[in-house]
Amino acid sequence: MSAKLIDGKAFSNQLVDKIARQVSLLQSVHHFTPGLAVILVGEDPASQVYVRNKAERTKKSGMRSIEHRLPEQTSQEELLALIDKMNRDEAIDGILVQLPLPAQIDDKAVIQAIAPEKDVDGFHVVNAGLLATGQPGIVPCTPYGCLLLLQDHFGDLSGLHAVIVGRSNIVGKPMAQLLLNAHATVTIAHSRTKELEKTCQQADILVAAVGRPEMITGDWIKKGAMVIDVGINRVPAPERGEGKFRLTGDVAFDSASRQAAAITPVPGGVGPMTIACLLRNTLVAACRRRDIVIDEF
Ligand code: GUN
Repeated sequence: MSAKLIDGKAFSNQLVDKIARQVSLLQSVHHFTPGLAVILVGEDPASQVYVRNKAERTKKSGMRSIEHRLPEQTSQEELLALIDKMNRDEAIDGILVQLPLPAQIDDKAVIQAIAPEKDVDGFHVVNAGLLATGQPGIVPCTPYGCLLLLQDHFGDLSGLHAVIVGRSNIVGKPMAQLLLNAHATVTIAHSRTKELEKTCQQADILVAAVGRPEMITGDWIKKGAMVIDVGINRVPAPERGEGKFRLTGDVAFDSASRQAAAITPVPGGVGPMTIACLLRNTLVAACRRRDIVIDEF
């Protein structure tokens, strides 16, 4: 039996449509349009693609997209000054600084400089602390997108055993907090976990976020599990021609889909959900800052 393919693109389109309807309502009833500012420092090709996609989707949802492209040699002081200006700009509801940043800039200092109520990445320690203590804040986009896919598949996650492979601040740790808050039993595993394969075999929910191409194979997966592949790895694809690449996840898709009940593909799984959740966070941030109550989803 082959796993059900989770179509993150279709799911995220529905989410963006829902956001667009809310944005339209805010415009007609409250006479404002939420604005998302994205800052890119330098010329990293992958970051350029991400930022372009974010801006496109923001505009598609009816929100305002404000883009700042700064040169590679921008100093930390210059970046902090721009963030300070945007923190005080009433028309900006969300601020995202694309990572990674050039070496002369301390990314932690930059993240902490963003006003927590405009931190639509959910990376600020205030938002991380609120999530860790089960209080409403702004939640990181990729794990939130994964949670929505899991809840769509399982409904209630109570008592399910979730194994997360990866312990980053961006995915692994917040994913664990979200799943705990949803009453799952959570194991965080990583590259130094002893018997990693056995640990994964116990998972009803397996979230792979290690950044190692196709590390998790079918024999690591319990029959009937749901597999969420967060990895986006560029690997050489000589069969497509010299110097060509293909995108692959942290999960070996073919063998995993023979074991799992449901699996997210790469690309087209978690990726599109991340951007949809960024727009969701911007909408939520805009409404909370103005004390407008909406149905948060
Ligand atoms: N770089 C890779 N993923 C992310 C993300 O989710 N947010 C930001 N700001 N930068 C990233």
